Amino acid sequence: MSASPPTPQDWRWAMGYFPTGVTIVTTWDGDEPVGSTINAFCSVSLEPPLLLICLDFKNPIREPFERARIFGVNILPQDGLPIAQRFAREPLGGRFCEFPYRAAPGGAPQLAAAPVFIDCALEQLHAAGDHLIAVGRGRRVEHAPDVSPLLYHRGQFPRLDGGV
Ligand SMILES: Cc1cc2nc3c(=O)[nH]c(=O)nc-3n(C[C@H](O)[C@H](O)[C@H](O)COP(=O)(O)O)c2cc1C
Repeated sequence: MSASPPTPQDWRWAMGYFPTGVTIVTTWDGDEPVGSTINAFCSVSLEPPLLLICLDFKNPIREPFERARIFGVNILPQDGLPIAQRFAREPLGGRFCEFPYRAAPGGAPQLAAAPVFIDCALEQLHAAGDHLIAVGRGRRVEHAPDVSPLLYHRGQFPRLDGGV
């Protein structure tokens, strides 16, 4: 057991050991939908309904996200890997093509492929190291029953049923 402060590699390994789901956080840049693959997401409070996400200061959606003050959390289904890859790698302008979305008036972009969608109002922002912690208040939730989620663990996307 080492007593020295963790290196970034130690940190990445330890954090990556914790399995998560995968979301696409969406918002608007003016009239254009923008989004990013995000796994730093968790529930904060039941009453009121609050959640948090962590955004890298360098994440290209950060500025529109801060301007729009609303965002959507689209939880990906097991077959959503191409969406996760597109929204992590593609330049910001090209991410939504091929992946249909809709939006309620005043709401964030909702991906048709997402079995769970949470529409949020941005409530608090906290700078924390190289990331920004954003707390959102849930305004609307939509969900489809019985769809397995996409998982993320140690840089891989294992299947819940053990398949590949
Ligand atoms: C599985 C996965 C999880 C990610 N989680 C986060 C996250 O929680 N916060 C974040 O800011 N970026 C996260 N990213 C990275 C962003 O999706 C990515 O840096 C950004 O969309 C890429 O934009 P750029 O290459 O134009 O900078 C994640 C990427 C992947 C593949």
